[in-house]
Amino acid sequence: METVITAATAQPATQDFLPLQGTDYVEFYVGNAKQAAHFYKTAFGFQSLAYAGPETGIKDRVSYVIRQNKLTFVLTTPLCSQNPMADHIYKHGDGVKILALKVEDAADAWKQTTSRGARSYQEPVTLADADGELVLSGIHTYGDTVHLFVERKNYQGAFMPGFRKWKTLYQPEETGLLYVDHCVGNVGWNQMDRWVKFYEDVMGFRNILSFDDNDISTEYSALMSKVMSNGNGFVKFPINEPAEGKKKSQVEEYLDYYDGEGCQHVALATNDIVKTVTELRNRGVEFLQVPSSYYADLLGRVGHIDEDLRPLEELGILVDRDDEGYLLQIFTKPVEDRPTLFFEIIQRKGAKSFGKGNFKALFEAIEREQEQRGNL
Ligand code: FE2
Repeated sequence: METVITAATAQPATQDFLPLQGTDYVEFYVGNAKQAAHFYKTAFGFQSLAYAGPETGIKDRVSYVIRQNKLTFVLTTPLCSQNPMADHIYKHGDGVKILALKVEDAADAWKQTTSRGARSYQEPVTLADADGELVLSGIHTYGDTVHLFVERKNYQGAFMPGFRKWKTLYQPEETGLLYVDHCVGNVGWNQMDRWVKFYEDVMGFRNILSFDDNDISTEYSALMSKVMSNGNGFVKFPINEPAEGKKKSQVEEYLDYYDGEGCQHVALATNDIVKTVTELRNRGVEFLQVPSSYYADLLGRVGHIDEDLRPLEELGILVDRDDEGYLLQIFTKPVEDRPTLFFEIIQRKGAKSFGKGNFKALFEAIEREQEQRGNL
């Protein structure tokens, strides 16, 4: 029998069953957390925040927590080969393990998501010390990547129980990085829609933008992308999958070298991209370069912008416009030897999109790098 939906039987507008307050932190499993922390402090301007390891009663790993404004990174290294983290690093190299999300109620976040089909990573657990209580729970997402739900409303310490304040004499200046704008996941062939459905069904996200291989292709390679956003828009996870082209997709190169699905890039917001990128470049961060022809007709394409064109061209900053405004963005080269994770620096001036107008120039720049690695 056919079901007729009338006003009386229609569902009311659904409530957000997983209210997220934003990204809490990004945790990287790395081969040498001490050196990685130094790199992110020196090159990106993060500040020392907290430390956990043998000195704080944690025997099998060390973690350094660094912060810049609302941006918190955790760099973790296992101290022995028996620790499963060592297998993670052996397989994937350095990369993002945990995309932690700040919630009001971590037990409820776990219940809501696991009851909708998420695979549990961590049942709700309350951690306590003299600074209060913090509740953690977690679920698996694509590849070996994990979402932790962090409830810290009753915790006043530097980071979380088990950590102590990390004080250092060496403290480079910040570079103006503010918060995580979005985190992109690369998934395997034909897996994009599966993960879109996961974020819709399990986490209550919506697909706000889609790009097919006609939008994102060059003469040689292609990919497809769908942007998932939570209800309040604080958390955005674009999902990429490779597409057929004459040569190898950049997503495929990532999957080969990461040995599976994982986080491709984390976009970091700034309010002054020229100042931030000048600073990052002076400190040794390497960026993808587009040809100078990109700037020849830039203003014809995007219209008036507040910034001078010259510093944008000198630094290689890209500009794109949508109905609501414009954005400035630039991409680093991979920050490890494997061509896997990289960062985007983004300044939004009204635009809520992701730089579709830059895809072609950008992907041609990536292809030149792929070509040099012999992977195109
Ligand atoms: Fe991005």
